[in-house]
Amino acid sequence: AWVASRAGQVVIALKDPAAQDSLKRAVAKKAVELVKSGMVLGLGTGSTSQFFIEELGILLSQNKLKDVECVATSYQSRVLSRQFGVKTLDLNDVNHIDIAFDGADEVDSSMNLIKGGGAAHTMEKVVDSIAKQCVILVDETKVVKTLGLTFPVPVEVLPFALAPVLRALAALGGQPEIRTALRKDGPVMTDLGNMVVDVRFSEGVKNPAELERKINMIPGVVENGLFINVAHTVLVGTKDGDETSV
Ligand code: 5RP
Repeated sequence: AWVASRAGQVVIALKDPAAQDSLKRAVAKKAVELVKSGMVLGLGTGSTSQFFIEELGILLSQNKLKDVECVATSYQSRVLSRQFGVKTLDLNDVNHIDIAFDGADEVDSSMNLIKGGGAAHTMEKVVDSIAKQCVILVDETKVVKTLGLTFPVPVEVLPFALAPVLRALAALGGQPEIRTALRKDGPVMTDLGNMVVDVRFSEGVKNPAELERKINMIPGVVENGLFINVAHTVLVGTKDGDETSV
């Protein structure tokens, strides 16, 4: 069940997490069909990306694909790649990326994204932006009219600059909250050794491109999770199994 779309369709909330996972798997299976032998790929982070890495590993183990090299956007994706027999390289050891495959937390009808639910958006933005093609894999619950109404905007912040960055984010009209681990005894630290601040905007993100720029201009901000004009294709897994073109 999947659909390739510019989004903007009706969102059907899935209550059953197992169902949501099966959509993520279905979309990953579809996406892996775009891979050709000899390609250099970018690998996102998160559960959808995990399904993609698994599906890629299956095709490699069956010799249906050969000589595929990948750049992972997190330690998590690197470890998963090793587990599933997918070769990874350092970004500095490749001179291009053919296709980056990544998940997202929200997608709007202009294919703008919120990412960073897995605290990996800084490396994801580098890899997704330089790829010749950036393919985003989501299930239909991620498709929204306005970004930021349900999912906050993640911002990676230098720990040294936390307090002034929190004040500056509030001055932009947001409600910033330091992301803490589930055990609540400390902040989440990214693979790059920084903190993550989730910023809620009560009326959503009205001008995503402007907000992306303004947040990144705050000294001490490393990168934010608004991805504007980065995605070339969004594959949306849907329950009804309809299929349309981008
Ligand atoms: C990680 C991300 C992920 O792509 C995003 O959080 C979606 O995750 P999942 O595929 O688990 O729903 O941006 O930084």
